[in-house]
Amino acid sequence: MRVRNKYRKSTAFPCNVGSRCSISIVVWSLVGFLLMLQIYSLISHRNTVSGDVKLHMSRHPLVRELEQVEEENIQIPPPKGKRSPRAAKRRPKRTTTLVDEFLDENSQIRHVFFPDMKTAIDPLKDAGNDSFYYYPARIWLDTEGNPIQAHGGGMIYDERSSAYYWYGEYKDGPTYHAHKKGAARVDIIGVGCYSSKDLWTWKNEGIVLTAEELNETHDLHKSNVLERPKVIYNENTGKYVMWMHIDDANYTKAAVGIAVSDYPTGPFDYLGSQRPHGYESRDMTVFKDDDGVAYLIYSSEENSELHIGPLTKDYLDVKPDMRRILVGQHREAPALFKYRGTYYMITSGCTGWAPNEALAHAADSIMGPWETMGNPCIGGNKMFRLATFFAQSTFVIPLPGIPGSYIFMADRWNPADLSDSRYVWLPLIVGGPADRPFEFNFGFPLWPRVSIYWHRKWRLPSSWRVTK
Ligand SMILES: *[C@@H]1O[C@H](CO)[C@@H](O)[C@H](O)[C@H]1NC(C)=O
Ligand SMILES: *[C@@H]1O[C@H](CO)[C@@H](O)[C@H](O)[C@H]1NC(C)=O
Ligand SMILES: *[C@@H]1O[C@H](CO)[C@@H](O)[C@H](O)[C@H]1NC(C)=O
Repeated sequence: MRVRNKYRKSTAFPCNVGSRCSISIVVWSLVGFLLMLQIYSLISHRNTVSGDVKLHMSRHPLVRELEQVEEENIQIPPPKGKRSPRAAKRRPKRTTTLVDEFLDENSQIRHVFFPDMKTAIDPLKDAGNDSFYYYPARIWLDTEGNPIQAHGGGMIYDERSSAYYWYGEYKDGPTYHAHKKGAARVDIIGVGCYSSKDLWTWKNEGIVLTAEELNETHDLHKSNVLERPKVIYNENTGKYVMWMHIDDANYTKAAVGIAVSDYPTGPFDYLGSQRPHGYESRDMTVFKDDDGVAYLIYSSEENSELHIGPLTKDYLDVKPDMRRILVGQHREAPALFKYRGTYYMITSGCTGWAPNEALAHAADSIMGPWETMGNPCIGGNKMFRLATFFAQSTFVIPLPGIPGSYIFMADRWNPADLSDSRYVWLPLIVGGPADRPFEFNFGFPLWPRVSIYWHRKWRLPSSWRVTK
């Protein structure tokens, strides 16, 4: 009896009682049906994806060039100074990684990550055959020959002036630590603004929101923190509205600030700050949807999750409606974009100024649920991909006229000298084989892959440049 019982227990589907047998048939049929459904969805999805790729490939053959990634083979230099073999033996073996080299301001290969002024991109000098080339991480000069200061930036295309405006943290000051445990910082100077018609030649439009020098209780007092300014245009009020992360030097205030202007080039009037929906808010962005509704997305609950909610019609406040997304995933630096009715987001992990792995997320509805796909980075080498090319997401610029194509904007932070942080701009393309869902979800839904392609040097397809 015992033996038989044991045997029966280990059998998944005992079939000696009539009713049990029919249950097992139902279960197996259900499993079979679900399997078929999943296979069907895989096949039909693959078809739509490959159709999609063909569509934009055939219209814009030069997109193919953007997908020809470059490989990196950087040799990590041997440790400085000779060590006796004995000492080497005694010490635990520690492998130096590229990230260690990146974070070491005295590294022998520092120039690989932070190329010097001699290699700067100078749109006025480089005009001609070298026009429009982006060189990620090289110093990038404006039309007056000064390095562009627009870190943690965002971009708008302004229909009224037919120009792009790039806003970001103007950080041209000394880097210091406010106290022993404080993060590397630069005093608030303000928000820089640059304008361009071609996304390559940038004219400095000045500091459009300036720090407060004297009033110590003011949010914009220079001893505080102003990060990730983002501007959107409100069609109803005709105003340009700026949202930004406002904090104190210890990052305990965790708020968003709002400013407004009649012109893209400012000056912006600061309206004040708030904790949206009553929650902490640190890294953030705003996203304006096709229907004119704008959303605030911010890291909250000690950066363990993101919150998303719509703004009021004038974009000057949040509405009460809010959803928690990517709960427990510890993501920051969100950058949103939309393609064919699907919302996408790139985020980074939370490791301070040090680089980490980017993830792509997708959602059918902007309020969620949001699903995490995978690391969008392609090319370089494994360390480059695991460190988002030693940069952190800040914005994704749509390229009208090339469906599914975008520019991924990221910051290569230089914690030893934050004013010398660099810009990493790379092509981002939605399409190609479906991405592997991060979480088990029965394969529903499968999103087209989001890919960011590494290039040491690249430019937009000429067809796009001609139309601008
Ligand atoms: C640009 O390229 C063309 C064709 O390759 C060449 O004839 C010309 O000399 C180049 N101009 C410059 C300024 O390098
Ligand atoms: C300083 O800033 C605070 C907060 O914005 C404001 O309430 C106060 O009136 C300001 N003080 C002066 C002297 O401007
Ligand atoms: C930040 O923290 C340090 C050390 O805990 C403290 O001395 C300082 O007053 C704090 N500063 C602010 C602005 O809260």
